[in-house]
Amino acid sequence: MVKRLTSRPLLIAAVLIVCIALTPILIILNRQPMITSAPQLLTDPFLQLPTENSVRVVWFTEFAGSRHTVRYGQGLSRTAIATTTKLSRTREDQKSKVGKQTQEGQIYQQPTKRDIWRHEARITGLTAGRRVPYQVTSVREDDQKVSSHQFTLAPKPAAGTPLKILLTSDHQLMPMTAANLQKVDETIGQVDAVFLAGDLVNIPDRASEWFDDNRGGAFFPCLQGRADYELEKEGRKTTYKGGELIQYAPLFPAVGNHEVMGRFSNERNLNDQFNDPYPRTIAQKLYQIKAKYLNPKNDLNVRQSWLKNNSFNTDTYNEIFTLPQNKSGGENNYAVTFGDIRLVVLYITNIWRTPSLEADAKGRYREREKDLNNPITWGYGQHIFEPVAKGSVQYKWLEKELNSPEFKQAKYKMVMFHHPPHSLGDNIVPAYTYPMQLIERDEEGRIKAVRYEYPKAKDYIIRDVVPLLESAGVKLVFYGHSHLWNRFVSPSGMHFLETSNVGNSYGAYIGNKKRPVPTGFKAEYTAAGDPNGLEPVMPTLAPLMGDDQQPQPYIASNDITAFSILDTGTGTVSSYRFDTRSPESKVIKFDEFRLSEPIDSKKVRNKDTVLLAGVALILTILIIAAGLAGILPQSIIKLPFP
Ligand SMILES: [Fe+2]
Repeated sequence: MVKRLTSRPLLIAAVLIVCIALTPILIILNRQPMITSAPQLLTDPFLQLPTENSVRVVWFTEFAGSRHTVRYGQGLSRTAIATTTKLSRTREDQKSKVGKQTQEGQIYQQPTKRDIWRHEARITGLTAGRRVPYQVTSVREDDQKVSSHQFTLAPKPAAGTPLKILLTSDHQLMPMTAANLQKVDETIGQVDAVFLAGDLVNIPDRASEWFDDNRGGAFFPCLQGRADYELEKEGRKTTYKGGELIQYAPLFPAVGNHEVMGRFSNERNLNDQFNDPYPRTIAQKLYQIKAKYLNPKNDLNVRQSWLKNNSFNTDTYNEIFTLPQNKSGGENNYAVTFGDIRLVVLYITNIWRTPSLEADAKGRYREREKDLNNPITWGYGQHIFEPVAKGSVQYKWLEKELNSPEFKQAKYKMVMFHHPPHSLGDNIVPAYTYPMQLIERDEEGRIKAVRYEYPKAKDYIIRDVVPLLESAGVKLVFYGHSHLWNRFVSPSGMHFLETSNVGNSYGAYIGNKKRPVPTGFKAEYTAAGDPNGLEPVMPTLAPLMGDDQQPQPYIASNDITAFSILDTGTGTVSSYRFDTRSPESKVIKFDEFRLSEPIDSKKVRNKDTVLLAGVALILTILIIAAGLAGILPQSIIKLPFP
């Protein structure tokens, strides 16, 4: 047996000494690493709210930082300081596809706040028609800085400037969106503005849908040429990067149903919250019942905050964009003059609910069987977020806008909103009206069913808005929501365009293809065709052929993506398609229609020439007259006669 060489106390002392000696080393090794990775911008900068001599530059970071600036002008010699705000509702959750989370709930088990800072600088002293370079720089708390690439900016274009405007909508991180915007960039090049008729993302409070969804197709990357979206078609994979568009061109969006977030929760996933908007009127009734307990001091802020969290809001959308203000108080309808265009944007959208009539459907036509005796859990059908019916605040604002000199003088009178007035798509049915609730009871008074009807005669868009637009001489009504391309013309010549087959399609309902509509209900629910009575216009250049080899008056495809360009120089709206099954194939212009006469540059040149010749002639006569009168020395004018 080996005899122990050391006694126990000695051994303990030795261990202690080693531990004490190692402690500083362990502390150093275990210390949280310093922020060593270089700072990054969460987006490239993009342009907002141009005026005659200024424009806003906006970008996002995941650090508050200390100095956020835009350098601009020749040699980037001028500097504008940005104002920084923090997005208040952006979160990630179990359904986010962000960072290392590729499967549901891998990292996030519940909605978790995500800190994102927004920087906005106003660039002033600009001249219409003159682009200047710019670059943004953000400085992190550790003094490390990061700069964007250089882009160019400009204020509003002057009237008479030929412009190319991208008309788009319903991006929603759908499979073909990155390809679509890449083809816009490759085909058209730099556009002058982007008009986006709603549904930018799917869940507005999920930060990664705007900034960095790990499938590569988030909103900003697609519109900034920084997407990395792999599209697989017929066994071939192609990666699309989107288009570098909004770094150079202002973006004017409208609110779609996917910009509206429903009732707030710290537990339910963000999809559930999105799908759970509550009508404000019902939320107000609930508030009244609980007011004493919820808000004993009757604080207005507490009341408003409760109502917002228990109905719906567009806070994230409103915090991301800086849009023209209107004086009526509504924050999601606005009007702007851009070159020859007067664009009027309306807040016309409602919650989308399933057309299913099954017992478990919290749908557009019924409440769930299990909810019948619990009105708090009802969905209240496809309720409308902001009234637009005759007499509403928004309608009155529209009336006023259509009577304004800015609108009346504009060459292109254009209106944009999300919900379709004319469409072959699914979402145009039922009518755009507040759901009419019908409660059926048995003999004992127990609720047997809660149904919703949508009388066509009360469609606020068709009954109230469209006639107003017609009488004001609107040329183009532009919208989205059904994810297809189709267009219509009213008897008076007003054009209607839906160019929402961007990332995907939900089909066209025409001929034998019927929408899922209820039978045995009182109101009329149109199964095929445009429920509001217009025939779709056949594309003028290269319509797609159906299975029957007949030309189709629409594009509703999950393989072929479409986009439209309003060209104020030529006075036309042109639509293009690209077949993602053949990545090398060319983009095809398939439709074109005229809104106005082209800007006749020859005529303009001729006018200028006549003017110049006139001035030259007058000057010559004056010089000769001055010479004859002896005011000028004869040697200067050298008259051709003695
Ligand atoms: Fe929509």
